[in-house]
Amino acid sequence: MMQLSEIGGHLTARTGIDDLMEDLFKALHSGDVGLCQLNGGSPAVIPEVTELWRRSMEELVRNGKFDVLVGHYAHPGGDPAFIRALVHFLNERCGWNLTPENVAITQGGQMACFTLFNMLAGPCPDGAMREILFPLCPDYVGYQSQSLCGGVMFRGIRPGIRMLDEHTFKYVIDFERLDIRPETAAVCMSRPTNPTGNVVTDEELGLLREMTSRAGVPLMIDNAYGPPLPNICFVPVTPAWDENMILTMSLS
Ligand SMILES: Cc1ncc(COP(=O)(O)O)c(C=O)c1O
Repeated sequence: MMQLSEIGGHLTARTGIDDLMEDLFKALHSGDVGLCQLNGGSPAVIPEVTELWRRSMEELVRNGKFDVLVGHYAHPGGDPAFIRALVHFLNERCGWNLTPENVAITQGGQMACFTLFNMLAGPCPDGAMREILFPLCPDYVGYQSQSLCGGVMFRGIRPGIRMLDEHTFKYVIDFERLDIRPETAAVCMSRPTNPTGNVVTDEELGLLREMTSRAGVPLMIDNAYGPPLPNICFVPVTPAWDENMILTMSLS
């Protein structure tokens, strides 16, 4: 039988995100026309957007850039023109002061989190076991499989629950319980949160930014779905970034 390494074991363990993606795939290919796609990620094929992709692809083919796309290696840090355009866009929209050095392109938002988690936490050369701290759980089920040393890398804080009316509640960060420890390598959360749809308020985020920068610990905000891109967020939310933050975004 093939012998797996410890990391191999972690990479091949069955996780919640595998089940979720498999469910999604089966539903998409079930051929059931009456089926309502309310699954995780529920991709929306929006005709106007599909048309835009088509026109852009045709333009790439016409002007010869498609040949470069499929035939050339890209710059390992991401296409410089794309990074410049993104920096310009984010600075205009959000009033930030980014330079191309602030931006890294990865194969996706989840790949960025995987790389960051394992760069910062886990067993360290000084003998310490560093952790990624989630200030509000439940958070994204996909994080579970991203550690190359198992669950020991992650610690989550139970949320406070604020009743909005008799039947509705909102998760809030319980700052009384939130302890950033010497072994905390980074604090991380998704905003908006998948799957609960909770959006940590600007005020909570402000407090979190203060706490993390006082502790000298980076704050990772997984901004998939958040503003300004793609902005699938239905409550007012101000995009935030500073030198102590890592903001990941997704083009999915
Ligand atoms: C919390 C969270 N982060 C990131 C992503 C997107 O990641 P990717 O760009 O790898 O598709 C998703 C998509 O479902 C998500 O729910």
